[in-house]
Amino acid sequence: MTDNTIRLTQTVKAAGCAAKLAPGVLDKALCGLDLPVDPNLLVGLERADDAGVYRVSDDLALVQTVDFFPPMVDDPYSFGQIAAANALSDVYAMGGTPKTAMNIVAFPAKTMDIMILRTIIEGGLDKLREAGVVLVGGHTVDDNELKYGLAVTGYIHPKRILTKKNLHSGDRLILTKPLGTGIVATAIKAGLADHGLIDRVTLAMTTLNRVAAMTMERFSVHACTDITGFGFLGHLAEMVVDSGHGVRVYAQNVPVYHEALEWAAMGLIPAGAYTNREFRDVFVNFSADISQSIQDLFFDPQTSGGLLIAVASDEAESLVAALKAQGVECAAIVGEVIDEPVDKIIVE
Ligand code: CO
Ligand code: CO
Ligand code: CO
Repeated sequence: MTDNTIRLTQTVKAAGCAAKLAPGVLDKALCGLDLPVDPNLLVGLERADDAGVYRVSDDLALVQTVDFFPPMVDDPYSFGQIAAANALSDVYAMGGTPKTAMNIVAFPAKTMDIMILRTIIEGGLDKLREAGVVLVGGHTVDDNELKYGLAVTGYIHPKRILTKKNLHSGDRLILTKPLGTGIVATAIKAGLADHGLIDRVTLAMTTLNRVAAMTMERFSVHACTDITGFGFLGHLAEMVVDSGHGVRVYAQNVPVYHEALEWAAMGLIPAGAYTNREFRDVFVNFSADISQSIQDLFFDPQTSGGLLIAVASDEAESLVAALKAQGVECAAIVGEVIDEPVDKIIVE
């Protein structure tokens, strides 16, 4: 039996969603460390991408990733689903196929009913099953604050790895889920979000990026990432910086939760959005008609966000059509890769 009276988001100190370590902080910790050198390490810490990739043979590499965080919704089962969808996403973003997973759990066993943990793990298992992934184990620690996530391992062909860094001039950018989950999570914690919105946002966050990833396989996709803690512009900046190209964002085409936009205007913004902006602001030029709330929303940290796909311009329309046909209804062309200004994002 689950204690439904507990509101999971009330057990978390910080507001909002997956509060990643502020961008750049981890770099400081790793700077100067003797990192492993191995010819089979195809994607490692030096070129931090969505996941690490290690070559096993000429046609097989392992893609590995881990993600965990405190609850951003009150329902334990949904939280488990979201955590799993989010953890699997980095494998999809690189073009891999997830195969195995391990639970990572921090649980306040002294103050919380253990059946809540069971329900969270049930939600996670549900998504793993949908993804065709086998749970092989896990690790649980007693902690004051509930956190759940998974370490995921997948297969990928060593010559077909999709990274963030391969923008081509003229590429169109496609985003597959609406923005604003960090702001909505802040509203949920504050008790401001109604059930209809919570259901819609929960459905989006529990939706695997699997179908989107399988669909893009058939197109000339040059680069891909998923939108999570650094927000839309933070992750886009990772694609753009040192790419030798710039990007123009069509602000009006970017799918968003309109409620999030209203809350942003009221100042209901998770701290992570400000940190994201501080770190990436120098790469972004907003045109004068882009409101402050749109700007904040574009830096809003996302949980289990959509894929951001760079595809050859002449295939962009048909990729969006194919995504919509597969049920990825919010997919939209949100920008294009331009030659100048180099390493800059222009939001118009
Ligand atoms: Co990612
Ligand atoms: Co990640
Ligand atoms: Co262990």
